[in-house]
Amino acid sequence: MEKKTERLIYLDNAATSFPKPEAVYRRIDEVLRVISGNPGRASHRMALEASRVIFSAREAIARLFNVRDASRIAFTKNATEGINIALKGLLKPGGHVVTSSFEHNSVVKTLGRLERNGVRVTKVRPDKDGLLDPKDIASAIDKDTKIVCISHASNVFGTVQPIEEIGRLCRNKSVIFMVDGAQTAGAMPIEMDAMNMDIFAATGHKALFGPQGTGFLYVREGIEPEPLVDGGTGELNITLEMPDRLESGTMNTPGVGGLGAGVEFILKEGIAKVKRYEEALIEALLDGLRKTEGVRIIGPADAKKRTALVAFNIAGKTPAEVGMRLDNDFSIMVRTGAHCAPEAHREAGTHPDGAVRVSPGYFTKEDEVEEFLRAIREIAK
Ligand SMILES: Cc1ncc(COP(=O)(O)O)c(C=O)c1O
Repeated sequence: MEKKTERLIYLDNAATSFPKPEAVYRRIDEVLRVISGNPGRASHRMALEASRVIFSAREAIARLFNVRDASRIAFTKNATEGINIALKGLLKPGGHVVTSSFEHNSVVKTLGRLERNGVRVTKVRPDKDGLLDPKDIASAIDKDTKIVCISHASNVFGTVQPIEEIGRLCRNKSVIFMVDGAQTAGAMPIEMDAMNMDIFAATGHKALFGPQGTGFLYVREGIEPEPLVDGGTGELNITLEMPDRLESGTMNTPGVGGLGAGVEFILKEGIAKVKRYEEALIEALLDGLRKTEGVRIIGPADAKKRTALVAFNIAGKTPAEVGMRLDNDFSIMVRTGAHCAPEAHREAGTHPDGAVRVSPGYFTKEDEVEEFLRAIREIAK
């Protein structure tokens, strides 16, 4: 990073978003420098101000995702933590969970550990574009099924799943529907109740523009996962209400403040506008990649069916080689390899090398996409 004047093109927003809106940097700085009290731990004004930071971030998330009762949103340190809380806090030995065969390791490894402890896991396979058929999920549900857990969009295929339909069938069968929204929160309009979701785990540092170390878990009223971590404020009762129940210990107030500022930025811009802009970039990427000889794209050909990422390979080149050339020769940042999702790459036929994944964000310029496509044509020659 010594060449500060060099123009870097950041196309790895599916890993973590960069840059963040100015307001995010400012809020984090303000919380650390000025506010700085411990939220919920004292009644002096700095502590109360810190509580207000947490409160307003929670309210902003509730507005963006149309959640009526903001107390059903607990802050976590990332999507992985939220996924662990929900799965480990609800599944007991003898219970059954239905998931897909293309999940991120956050789900795969968590369920793997639960499986060793007597939870039964059924994995439903998608079509060649990474799309699940709700009928397959319906037939995988049996009398012991407690949860259906799938990602809203895989971080390898990018395919947006038919969430509402899957949620509806789960409701009809009285099964909890849990969604891993790491790749969609902040990237497309999402409404928890209208989309029939009971649990939604999101990460703060991707499309929601928060800093790393932030995320949240939404849990519908009536579902109370056992906490992974105990402690916190108050008396000696261990049956705390949401959100305190899942937020033991001092909060990441600067991080949550930054996340709140990111969400407020999206609310101001409008999530439909964000989606439209990123979709146009994905369309340009798909078009350019399709026209490049030797490129094989993973996932659907239609940008409307995707979240803001495209994974692909170039014939005769390893993903690592392509990523290295993009970085070294063109100053373009993408993610290569297995993307913490080896099962998804198995489904895509790209295991073990993985793929190259390009993921623009709301701050990506059209000419940066063009430059990326020029670089890919050069590398593919
Ligand atoms: C689909 C999916 N689930 C879960 C995660 C985990 O997110 P985090 O590392 O922020 O916990 C990711 C991150 O890449 C993801 O893409």
